[in-house]
Amino acid sequence: MPKIILITGANAGIGLKTAEELVKAGHHVILACRNLGKAEQAKTQLENLGTGQVDLIQLDLNSLEKVSHAANEVLKKYDHIDVLINNAGLISKHLDYTEDGYEKHFGVNFLGHFLWTLKLLPLLKKSVQGRIIHLSSIAHWAGHIQPHKFLAENNKHYIMFPSYGSSKLQNLLFSNLLATQLEGSNVTSNALHPGAVDSELYRQLPKFQYIFVSLALIPPSKPANLIKRMALDEGWAKKNGQYASVQTPAFSSKKSKDLKLAQQLYDVSYDLVKTYL
Ligand SMILES: NC(=O)c1ccc[n+]([C@@H]2O[C@H](COP(=O)([O-])OP(=O)(O)OC[C@H]3O[C@@H](n4cnc5c(N)ncnc54)[C@H](OP(=O)(O)O)[C@@H]3O)[C@@H](O)[C@H]2O)c1
Repeated sequence: MPKIILITGANAGIGLKTAEELVKAGHHVILACRNLGKAEQAKTQLENLGTGQVDLIQLDLNSLEKVSHAANEVLKKYDHIDVLINNAGLISKHLDYTEDGYEKHFGVNFLGHFLWTLKLLPLLKKSVQGRIIHLSSIAHWAGHIQPHKFLAENNKHYIMFPSYGSSKLQNLLFSNLLATQLEGSNVTSNALHPGAVDSELYRQLPKFQYIFVSLALIPPSKPANLIKRMALDEGWAKKNGQYASVQTPAFSSKKSKDLKLAQQLYDVSYDLVKTYL
């Protein structure tokens, strides 16, 4: 029986490769993408694999209003979702603002997905067994939860890596908190570090840095296989609140397991998005 699987940022990198694996296995994949031109190309490429159905929804995580609009479209179009893969993400070399004035990593990598997930949760609950998968990163070890820095204008001394790491810590804390909230329900929430993957993520790095980093990169097919297992395997059906990894032992930081911190992040974030729910 084909599953309905929604992937954010599915027009490139890990998201596209994961979509490919899932379409090849005959599943119905919804690509939720910002860049429609690139997404149309990805859709055609996936349809040529000739098996699972492929749909496209425009999603720009850079704006809470647009996230809400895209989620409403999904709610109207589908009666359930079996798997939600929160994959889209970016690294921003310079301090940048979302449309709502949030620091870009916080706003796009975390807060947009936070709103998206809360809005789509009712559709996952309508699945026989819903699964939510969050793309975190080993970079979460460098992260902090500092609500005063959520607004871009409060980041006077911006440094790229801890800022990205913080958004990946936020993804993991959200996954862990959701897992406790969903305990005993038909929906699970798990996260992963996909490894250091050769994708467009590093496009903003200076060339010499990219050359250095690229020596250690693995192909997107590796995390795509792990995500496929997390999405479909019977062995993952009952796993909830886990952190998996392709490359390294899956050690997550003490901070990422702090459910009090996760609840604080949830409460602050809920306040920021509640008018869009
Ligand atoms: N690559 C790695 O080594 C690595 C390591 C650890 C974790 N991760 C995580 O894995 C995930 C996927 O990364 P990747 O390596 O596949 O990167 P990628 O090739 O750069 O793909 C990122 C995807 O996110 C989308 N995206 C960016 N901003 C968006 C927005 N405002 N709204 C909607 N979609 C947006 C991009 O769409 P556009 O094409 O429109 O920009 C693209 O489809 C990310 O969450 C990343 O943090 C990656």
